[in-house]
Amino acid sequence: IGSLIITALMAYLWGSIPAGYWMGKVLRGKDYDIRDHGSRKIGATNVQRTLGTGPALIVLVIDLSKGIGPALLATFVPFFYGGGWGILVAGLAALLGHCYPIFIGFKGGRGVLTGAGALLICSPLTFLLAAITTISTVRIWKYVSLGSIVGSATGIICGIIFYVLGVLRPGFFAAVSLPQMVYMIIAPSLIIIFHRDNIDRLLAGKERKFGQKVADTE
Ligand code: G3P
Repeated sequence: IGSLIITALMAYLWGSIPAGYWMGKVLRGKDYDIRDHGSRKIGATNVQRTLGTGPALIVLVIDLSKGIGPALLATFVPFFYGGGWGILVAGLAALLGHCYPIFIGFKGGRGVLTGAGALLICSPLTFLLAAITTISTVRIWKYVSLGSIVGSATGIICGIIFYVLGVLRPGFFAAVSLPQMVYMIIAPSLIIIFHRDNIDRLLAGKERKFGQKVADTE
């Protein structure tokens, strides 16, 4: 239990690193807070619409690595492993760190990339399938939020199917463990919940499309 608490703390602090927020400060000066602009979130999507594509790609890599790093430690370092439950604790804590970052007053992003980073370590095949459904959705409908929701649903479905197949057919190549399946249900569910305001805007036809830039005054 002690090691799981330290795993949670490590992952939460790591996930809290507010890359998108800092990107705004670096590019627009110390008085700029990205949370006053666009969707008010610090994620790569909002960085893209407020600061541009180059900065968004940098934030994308950092936010993804905030999930990958803690999940790798929980998978391969015995201290953080926690009998297999470390991955669940590390993945969720990193995700919550991104959404409620301790360093900037607990107002962060929606956790898509950080959650996906830990998913990559849990189940690379699911990561690939979720990436495909997300990118396809964004290409067709032009809403990143809708893509994230579809990708999250993909993660939940794959988590359940790959766990059951692993139980029914020992040695199944894409099998996930019980803690991994629990992560693949809870993390995407949280991510979908964190898209509440996007869902309201999508239903009202007011969601910004991908590529729609936002001026510094908005
Ligand atoms: O990563 C979050 C994305 O799905 C939506 O972001 O800024 O459009 O609310 P945003």
